[in-house]
Amino acid sequence: MNYLNKKTIEDIDVRGKKVLVRCDFNVPLADGVIADDKRIRESIPTIRYLAEHDAAVILCSHLGRPKDEESKKACTLAPVAVRLSELMGRPVQFVPDVIGPQAQAAAKALKPGEILVIENVRFFKEETANDPAFAKALASLADIYVNDAFGTAHRAHASTAGVADYLPAVCGYLIQKEITIMGNALANPKRPFVAILGGAKVSDKIGVITNLLDKVDTLIIGGAMAYTFFKATGKHVGSSRYEEDKVELAGEILKKAKEKGVNFLLPHDNIAADAFSADANVRVFHHEDIEDGWMGLDIGPATQKLFADAIKGAGTVVWNGPMGVSEMAPFASGTIAVAKAIAESGAVSIIGGGDSAAAIERLGFADKMTHISTGGGASLEFLEGKILPGIACLNDK
Ligand code: 3PG
Repeated sequence: MNYLNKKTIEDIDVRGKKVLVRCDFNVPLADGVIADDKRIRESIPTIRYLAEHDAAVILCSHLGRPKDEESKKACTLAPVAVRLSELMGRPVQFVPDVIGPQAQAAAKALKPGEILVIENVRFFKEETANDPAFAKALASLADIYVNDAFGTAHRAHASTAGVADYLPAVCGYLIQKEITIMGNALANPKRPFVAILGGAKVSDKIGVITNLLDKVDTLIIGGAMAYTFFKATGKHVGSSRYEEDKVELAGEILKKAKEKGVNFLLPHDNIAADAFSADANVRVFHHEDIEDGWMGLDIGPATQKLFADAIKGAGTVVWNGPMGVSEMAPFASGTIAVAKAIAESGAVSIIGGGDSAAAIERLGFADKMTHISTGGGASLEFLEGKILPGIACLNDK
């Protein structure tokens, strides 16, 4: 699929039209307060463009996965409308309704240049079921549909895909930015192209590994995933976490990497602990010598240098997944070393959303990266080469 061939907000006339924009306002909340507003900030260029071009802008999104009345209360988009208004320095209306009479009336009354947030689309089970009647009712609020929710583009839901059956459908600036930067890195990378994959499970990353093996010069593996690869080469992993049923698959990946001439880097040493706890006793083991009773929880100092050296000469770096249990201080140094190496590399650097994006922000390296994706699952599926339904549904140029 040629994602870059999709129409954008600049390809249609929005003047005087009601425009329904699907944003990803699924932001983390702590005690009802927005803990990180990156996704709201990233949605502003599209909203501003539409408002400045005299569209009446109706914003919709999900927030969390509300199941019952109690969880719905905690998932209202009301605080998002307030934060958006503060960030944009202009009024943003909110209506506690999605497709009912209140939402219909508010959308009808909305004037060019005004902005309205409607309530969480997941308050209706028809949203995730991609129910056509629900999608049609949502579409009836507007004349044009804009999808700018990159973080939810891997979901075929009513507000991310179904609605496009009923309205002219184009993408906003955020989706355009995400697919242009990540698409170009995959299709035409500045070399050497280095991918760094971490996290706990090979099974979560198998699609990305397989797709990237055809494209990268170096593939670096960290996180607990590395122990499944160690097992595949007959090495001892002590009490480290690994996936027994993926050992054979890991062996096949290693074989494929060799056939393709990919420089496949696994850790040489590991920071291990005698319990899964920040207070545990800690020792550094060479990968073959992790003793029973000890579990690897981070890459060791020699590996940090090995990985940093590989990153140093890179033209393009794609990173998804931490190198260790980075939320516990004793096991964060591997993730910090990789983040620092990327920040200093001068390479085109693309950080998949989710845990690695959070780590980069927390460590203060965010402004040194070329692109930090707003999508966790979505960026992973994009890197896997999968079709994202929220983009596939949009009109071609
Ligand atoms: C995300 O945070 O990854 C997106 O907003 C999608 O949310 P979901 O996994 O609940 O569909």
